[in-house]
Amino acid sequence: MALWGGRFKEGPDERFKNYNDSLKFDYRMALEDIEGSEAWADAIHEAGVLTDKECADLKKALGELHEEAEQDIHAIASAGDEDIHSYVERRLIEKVGSLGKKLHTGRSRNDQVALDLKLWCRKAVKGISEALVHLEKELIKTADRYQGAVFPGYTHLQRAQPVTFSHWVLAYLNMFERDYQRLCNAEKLMETCPLGSAALAGTAYRIDREKLAKALGFERATANSLDGVSDRDHVMELLSCASVSMVHLSRLAEDLIIYNSGEARFVTLSDKVTSGSSLMPQKKNPDSLELIRGKCGRVIGALTGMLVTCKALPLAYDKDLQEDKERLFDAVDTWHDSLYMAALVFEGLKLNEDRALEAAKGGYSNATELADYLVSKGVPFREAHSVVGQAVLYAISQNKPLEDLSVEEFRKFSPLIGDDVYEPLQIESILKKRDIKGGTAPAQTKEEIAAWDERLKARKG
Ligand code: ARG
Repeated sequence: MALWGGRFKEGPDERFKNYNDSLKFDYRMALEDIEGSEAWADAIHEAGVLTDKECADLKKALGELHEEAEQDIHAIASAGDEDIHSYVERRLIEKVGSLGKKLHTGRSRNDQVALDLKLWCRKAVKGISEALVHLEKELIKTADRYQGAVFPGYTHLQRAQPVTFSHWVLAYLNMFERDYQRLCNAEKLMETCPLGSAALAGTAYRIDREKLAKALGFERATANSLDGVSDRDHVMELLSCASVSMVHLSRLAEDLIIYNSGEARFVTLSDKVTSGSSLMPQKKNPDSLELIRGKCGRVIGALTGMLVTCKALPLAYDKDLQEDKERLFDAVDTWHDSLYMAALVFEGLKLNEDRALEAAKGGYSNATELADYLVSKGVPFREAHSVVGQAVLYAISQNKPLEDLSVEEFRKFSPLIGDDVYEPLQIESILKKRDIKGGTAPAQTKEEIAAWDERLKARKG
């Protein structure tokens, strides 16, 4: 049964119905739709539309529907109704007869769907926040487990300077923390309740919209009914948060894929997050990470799609807006699952400390130290840079690392170089020197880990 039909002479073409119906995906807002309906029953009861008994009967039936939906929400998808609002109304009428037909007084599916989706988004924020915190905690555990371990730092994917492995882990932790903060900011803009906007012009019934907003967990009511039913910037914003965070996850995945490669072998992934090849028995592929990287494109696609759907959309509600849901649901699910997958990868990640140390020592990654050494002897940095460049070229020709050159060999490039050159070229000394806020010195990392641990303790996830 459709919620409309009085002014139609014939029913919809089956093909149009299939094309138009949204229940197959908006069933996911069943709980929100029912919660909104309960609050609406109270609001119109107070406005004198429903008697005490009618309101109580409606809310009892809605309570039952809520329970049923909680038990098996997926069963609703194939109920055949046009959308979740039609489904709830039909089931209500089945339960309480024509009283069920009173609930929609003063309400439109336009403000109803705007409300449902906003409530859904607010719940999604909670779920994703927990997933982010869960990942952050796993990162801290990893950073703590490998405190002090040396790792090659790259720029341009060329070995640049040594860092600690924990410093690399903490880099991503900082990114995910900003994703978390970004989500908190997004949540602040989801504080207004659109219910009571009706179709577009505001409801004609004397309901208390502020009270209604509070009852549904919002700060206040939306200030403009046209805006209330037609904007979906909270969806765009959530998708934008999702996209940024998926980019962070994707970079993390790419780093680990490289570090796990046969050529690098800096880390080993657990069997639990890898899969084999049907043909090559020796293979152990980093599918979990490749999928995280791949799914990033899907989430960015959802954001792009949503922006394009809303571009040039005239006020107020248009059916185009029905296109907001599938991509949002899919993107939030994908984001959520990817965060947990990344956490699982870290749970079983093994750092091959010797390989990493060896790589960190190679590639002339202590060349900057030699330049700094010359600076300490009074050579201007630019000149020191050039001298060291020549020394590196020479060392390459000798197939030796810098620290294996003799003082005599060094002196060919600068007479200022003495016996004291070797100490600053040692990896421990390189790391130790970066003892400044944000630097890679083990002492800094240790402090950072302790501070993060404290910060995250208080959070759920
Ligand atoms: N399924 C619709 C949506 O998702 C619900 C709102 C329908 N409103 C309307 N006027 N046809 O947007």
